[in-house]
Amino acid sequence: MKKVKRIIATIIATVMLVSVASCTAVDTKTTAAATTKAAAAAETTAAAAAATTAAAAETTAAAGTTFKVGVAMPTQSSERWIADGANVKTQLEALGYVVDLQYAEDDIQAQVNQIENMITNGANCLVIAAIDSSALVNILAKAKSANIPVIAYDRLLMNTDAVSYYATFDNFQVGVLQASYLVDALGLTDSTKGPFNVELFAGSPDDNNATLFWNGAMKTLQPYIDSKQIVVLSGQTTFEKCATLRWAQEVAQARMENILSGTYSGGAKVDAVLSPYDGLSYGIAAALEGAGYKVGAGWPLITGQDAELMGVKNLISGKQAMTVFKDTRVLASKCVKMVDAVLKGTEPEINDTKTYDNGVLVVPSFLCTPVAVTKDNYVKEVIDAGYYTAAQVAG
Ligand code: GAL
Repeated sequence: MKKVKRIIATIIATVMLVSVASCTAVDTKTTAAATTKAAAAAETTAAAAAATTAAAAETTAAAGTTFKVGVAMPTQSSERWIADGANVKTQLEALGYVVDLQYAEDDIQAQVNQIENMITNGANCLVIAAIDSSALVNILAKAKSANIPVIAYDRLLMNTDAVSYYATFDNFQVGVLQASYLVDALGLTDSTKGPFNVELFAGSPDDNNATLFWNGAMKTLQPYIDSKQIVVLSGQTTFEKCATLRWAQEVAQARMENILSGTYSGGAKVDAVLSPYDGLSYGIAAALEGAGYKVGAGWPLITGQDAELMGVKNLISGKQAMTVFKDTRVLASKCVKMVDAVLKGTEPEINDTKTYDNGVLVVPSFLCTPVAVTKDNYVKEVIDAGYYTAAQVAG
């Protein structure tokens, strides 16, 4: 009898190994369930155990075709997130995953509820672009206890050990590109140039990216502030003073209006504005127009990010001097590869293991490369690359 049990135990082990090896997407939860089932069955009758394990193996293999991925995006008020969501969904579906894509319209509690629903509905993996990077700690703990891997999308998930990987762009470099554009366009490497009046904007303080953009930009601009070739006439030079909650266009517009009426009413002119995102650039431009500035001679250089369609149109009209193009198709594909690897139990491709400390762990990341875009290279970078058509940009 003992011998029979040993043989059957060997069969069970073999079936389990085959089930793991042959499964295209190994779900830790399902595999763990199969293990528990097999162990319990072995205690009763070995023959039944073998049957249960074989059934579990089939379930696991079948589940591989219907794995669910929950994708939580922050808002549809910005084009880029619409593109991000669509790209991630399409690419995951092409691999056979079932996708639950949700937008929370910048409502933090709504995003928590959406993620909660994804967990309840049996998501096997979560992809999250947070509204507030720190506000998801509790819900992510739930995901972790349900063995659901979490990928942070573009924005790092802070103060949690429940995040497995992070797909993003080189965010520090984004700030460097924005500030370097201003340095070049104002000719600041020639120390006789200046002083120029430059006002500074930062992104949302609850988004870790905003700090990286700011740090990259300020590292680049600080030498010229020190040499007084750049003057920040408003005196607002700290991240806290320059931050724009929820990346809101109207908040940026109101702050620019205040700066213009408070600091520039005596006749001084703004020469340039460091803006970390196209959405803020629109608000800044509206404030300048409201104060009598006109696109053309005397219109300040305004930076941006995301190469939104409106942003690219503004490059052509001269309303915006540059934007930073972050190809959401590339980011989505890196993220989708991470999801696929995690669900198959393999190692995703990463290229940074040092930069993204979320307060609990340094999250293994893949950083895509951002590109500075102006009216001189937008055709090559965004149209030839198939991101927009010439008709869209002209329309
Ligand atoms: C950041 C993102 C930027 C921009 C901004 C506002 O997290 O990295 O590209 O989209 O949010 O949406």
